[in-house]
Amino acid sequence: MSEQEMELSEQLPKCPFPHIDGLGLEPQLRHLLYDQPNSKMSLEYGEGGAWIVTRYEEVKRVATDRRFSRAALVGLDFERITPRPIAPPGSIFVQDPAVHRQMRSALAGAFGSRALDRMRGQIQRTVDELLEAMKADDGPADFMSAVADPLPTRVICQVLAIPSDDEAWLMDQVGALKRIDPSHRTTALEAQKTLHAYVVSLVDRRRRDPGTDLVSSLTAGAEEERLTDDEVVSLVISLILTGHDNVTNELGNIVFTLLTDGALRRQAETDFSAAFEELLRYIPFRRGVGTPRVALEDVTVGDKMIKSGDVVHVAYMAANRDPEKFPDPDELKPDRLKVPHMTFGWGAHRCPAEPLARLEIEIALTSLFARFPGLKLAVPQHEIEWQRENVNRLPLSLPVAW
Ligand code: HEM
Repeated sequence: MSEQEMELSEQLPKCPFPHIDGLGLEPQLRHLLYDQPNSKMSLEYGEGGAWIVTRYEEVKRVATDRRFSRAALVGLDFERITPRPIAPPGSIFVQDPAVHRQMRSALAGAFGSRALDRMRGQIQRTVDELLEAMKADDGPADFMSAVADPLPTRVICQVLAIPSDDEAWLMDQVGALKRIDPSHRTTALEAQKTLHAYVVSLVDRRRRDPGTDLVSSLTAGAEEERLTDDEVVSLVISLILTGHDNVTNELGNIVFTLLTDGALRRQAETDFSAAFEELLRYIPFRRGVGTPRVALEDVTVGDKMIKSGDVVHVAYMAANRDPEKFPDPDELKPDRLKVPHMTFGWGAHRCPAEPLARLEIEIALTSLFARFPGLKLAVPQHEIEWQRENVNRLPLSLPVAW
């Protein structure tokens, strides 16, 4: 990098943005949303510069325009917030059509309404077991370690029929990949390799001895439309990487918000789905940005020309607070006009497991408040400690009493 380029990059907004407790938009991200919606930023790792797009309509545009590619990321040391890219080469996150379409259609049945009907009972049983164990002590209990953390781990392992003995170990590998501190570069690389080897052996076992789980169904199918073993491995890794912490984040943040906002909690009691939707919009559950895209040709976005080869991040969390779409965006208003939020992403890479994630959270919340109608925070709000070490934004622990 030339001296002049270095000077310029030092003046750019830096991502991950400095930590703030609670669920406000980070001041730097707010500034990018209100004053510099299509701007260059500098990220902790990688090189080559990157754009950040923050406003709703422009985020939508980048997420749906085929001139922005995910596959072109492979082999680039692109700017990002973790020491190693979370998405491995070959995974669904870094595919363009046609492989991407093939992977998505292989997953379609797994999160469709019939599959969810089959999973509902099992999720309810898991939630009941976790809540029963939480109630066994007289309290207080930590909602994060009692429910928000184990529930999605168990669900994704049930979907993939991963033995329960492997659950904790597997989630440690995922956790190592999502840490943002530079000292974790080596552990992240080891975790990536270990995870890959584990899934290769899992896929091999299911190919030889299939069951009724998702891994088995991904390895089946007519020869000409079947995914290759490498593609199945990548897809299963993608599910393990994403099937857990986003649900944990949402659950922890939603329960925190309901326990600290009495009016919203009363509204949730009368109209759960409106309050749930608004909470999903409002909660910034990740730090900064996720997997970016690469411009395949020059594209104008808002008032800026993004050059061919430039890397572009979209900020779904900022778009969810765009005042043009959501007046008074920092207020929780369950009765606001129903503009769809971007919490599950947008466009071809939108979360394929949204129905499963919604089901897990809905069952957990309705069962929690039915079983513990007097649930409250067991410590003053300012004593809650927030995650600082990785890409997620959530309370580290959430002590509750009843
Ligand atoms: C509340 C929970 C969840 C939230 C908020 C969430 C959100 C997201 C977001 C924002 C994306 C990225 C969209 C993009 O790249 O443009 C995504 C992608 C993805 N999510 Fe989720 N997710 C959740 C739960 C889950 C669960 C439980 C699973 C798996 C069982 C899952 C699997 C995936 C996969 C495989 C992708 C990649 C899709 C692709 O690149 O085509 N997610 N999710």
